[in-house]
Amino acid sequence: MVAFSGAGLSAESGVPTFRDAETQGFWLNYDPGKLASPEGFAADPELVYTWYNERRRNIAQVQPNAAHRALAARPDIVNITQNIDDLLHRAGAREVIQLHGTLTVDRCDGKCGYEEEVALHDPPAARECPVCGNWLRPAVVWFGEALPMEAWTEAEERCRSCEVMLVVGTAAEVYPAAGLIGLSKSCGARIIVVNPHASQASALADIEFCGKAGEVLPMLLGG
Ligand code: OAD
Repeated sequence: MVAFSGAGLSAESGVPTFRDAETQGFWLNYDPGKLASPEGFAADPELVYTWYNERRRNIAQVQPNAAHRALAARPDIVNITQNIDDLLHRAGAREVIQLHGTLTVDRCDGKCGYEEEVALHDPPAARECPVCGNWLRPAVVWFGEALPMEAWTEAEERCRSCEVMLVVGTAAEVYPAAGLIGLSKSCGARIIVVNPHASQASALADIEFCGKAGEVLPMLLGG
């Protein structure tokens, strides 16, 4: 079984989503072009760091919720997530593929390959790469950028071969990630959607649970 998740998975922990008004979606109040794009970073690295570091401190303060714990308690589930927080890891999930990168690492924006771990509760400000002098940046995927090749290849493989895909807390609007749902479906998997609202995944669902992940997943998966 694959669990393909999005921001709704972490919403009950207190992490805002992107497009959902009820959970203070970021993109309803902030401009992704300024905060989550290579052009935005080139224009104002300090602004981008200030925003990501606020998100890091927020995530350091919150805890995994019942949905993260229910997924983590099932070692047979492969987690493929668009989330850049570390809540599935902290819940103890065995396998987590992060399609949009992670907030826990900064990497060189140039080509030298330098990376460093970041303490989420006390993240460092914008700074230069100690190896090549380019800017360091959060190791996340921004609009207009390719997904990390290894994570994407692994995700595609898992989605082609799973029997069931649980789609949790995503609007399924951002590609190529959202395309994994159709990929699994076309390879014969049953699609189970968990979301309090209808989403772009609804049309592909074999079963749809209209509810919060923290309430539905423990019931569905046990725990
Ligand atoms: P969205 O904010 O687009 O969608 C969140 C979804 O979660 C919505 O469909 C909500 O109805 C649902 N939701 C809210 N609370 C929930 C709960 N308690 N339980 C279950 N579902 C709940 O977030 P994503 O689909 O994750 O990309 O967005 C995908 C990508 O767009 C993100 O990874 C990010 C963003 O721009 C990048 O930054 C590259």
